[in-house]
Amino acid sequence: MAPLGMLLGLILAFFTFSLSHQNPKEFALINPEKSPKESEQKETKAEEALDPEDLEVFHPTHEWQALRPGQAVPAGSHVRLNLQTGEREVKLQDEDKFRNHLKESKKGKRLDVNTNAYTSEDLKSALAKLKEGTKLESSKEDKARQAEVKQLFRPIEELKKDFAELNVVIETDMQIMIRLINKFNSSSSSLEEKIAALFDLEYYVHQMDNAQDLLSFGGLQVVINGLNSTEPLVKEYAAFVLGAAFSSNPKVQVEAVEGGALQKLLVILATEQPLATKKKVLFALCSLLRHFPYAQQHFLKLGGLQALRSLVQEKATEVLAVRVVTLLYDLVTEKMFAEEEAELTRETSPEKLQQYRQVHLLPGLREQGWCAITANLLALPEHDAREKVLQALGALLATCRDHYREDAQLSRTLAGLQMEYQALAALELQEGDDEGYFRELLSSINSLLQELR
Ligand SMILES: *[C@@H]1O[C@H](CO)[C@@H](O)[C@H](O)[C@H]1NC(C)=O
Ligand SMILES: *[C@@H]1O[C@H](CO)[C@@H](O)[C@H](O)[C@H]1NC(C)=O
Repeated sequence: MAPLGMLLGLILAFFTFSLSHQNPKEFALINPEKSPKESEQKETKAEEALDPEDLEVFHPTHEWQALRPGQAVPAGSHVRLNLQTGEREVKLQDEDKFRNHLKESKKGKRLDVNTNAYTSEDLKSALAKLKEGTKLESSKEDKARQAEVKQLFRPIEELKKDFAELNVVIETDMQIMIRLINKFNSSSSSLEEKIAALFDLEYYVHQMDNAQDLLSFGGLQVVINGLNSTEPLVKEYAAFVLGAAFSSNPKVQVEAVEGGALQKLLVILATEQPLATKKKVLFALCSLLRHFPYAQQHFLKLGGLQALRSLVQEKATEVLAVRVVTLLYDLVTEKMFAEEEAELTRETSPEKLQQYRQVHLLPGLREQGWCAITANLLALPEHDAREKVLQALGALLATCRDHYREDAQLSRTLAGLQMEYQALAALELQEGDDEGYFRELLSSINSLLQELR
């Protein structure tokens, strides 16, 4: 009986494992009509708060930590979806997954087995033995006992069914991604199935090695081609996957540019599309351009600045203006830092520096009217939007100085903001905060005014 009990415990533990581990898939399957929309909102909210540093590589510890959108996860990390919060969580994969889940399962069933040693094959054969055992028992034990055993083992058909599902759980990330890509690429899949496949795929490609695996079997190109779909939702979710896959992942970024992703992203930005689609596409574009001067060069050659300008100037998409300006600010400073770093430390690789030198961003910005566009955005009412615009104005100062000096509206706006932030900074100081937010804004305004005098 001891081995039977042990096996049963093991199987129970495995269900707990499968339930808690299968979640990205179940999440989508259980809430088919709910999940894309709801999580889209969540995602969008989170994206709104995206800062440049969010796009850096996440550094996992031994504790579970929430993963923010756009963050890349180093190879070998352990990622899970927290079903309570809907957040992805990451930690170092210091222990065997299975062991971990056994430990975590609330019942805390203690099993004296080396769970590391069990594979799905082991479990299948254990299940077969278990069935034999049942037969043996029934031949020699009394009826009550038999009933008890039957009670215990009646769900054996269900167990088998669950084992079939267990195989799904044991699929490697690679197999899951292949399945999802096939689902997405199949002409017999419905629109909903395709979106669900992309939605699930996004979860996997946050891990850098998964994103590179996606590349290896041609899956990345299939997603890139998804940007050509006539369905705005397919474009949107393809961009969602790409944004995650590109993030801090040079191998994938290179292939994406070669695979025509940049052009397709820009076409979407420059043509009439729903705001939600453009938002995700802008996110993917940022993720592709950041820290990748090669893509930045192509972006300029392909008329990227015009596409962004149309985005900022159209009524329907002007809410994206601050994100656009933030992207441009990041690109300008990134190039500056590369030059500075090369001078100071001589650690920047010569090719990279060479590539940055071929990104003629500032002249492009000036020619395309970005001096005026950026200055006009200072009229936005939100403090954080103004903060971003002030940063950008500072970065463009050397390039746009003469323009700014002649811009009477800009001077008036700056003077008005100076008064507003003088008052707010004084309040801040009264409250004992002598390095406050408003004081910083005030000091950027003061130095801009100084420069333009
Ligand atoms: C996607 O489908 C096309 C045509 O239906 C096929 O040629 C291609 O090999 C598929 N790609 C992948 C990665 O499955
Ligand atoms: C996708 O669209 C672009 C232009 O939007 C076009 O040049 C390209 O040929 C299309 N690719 C496919 C695979 O349909």
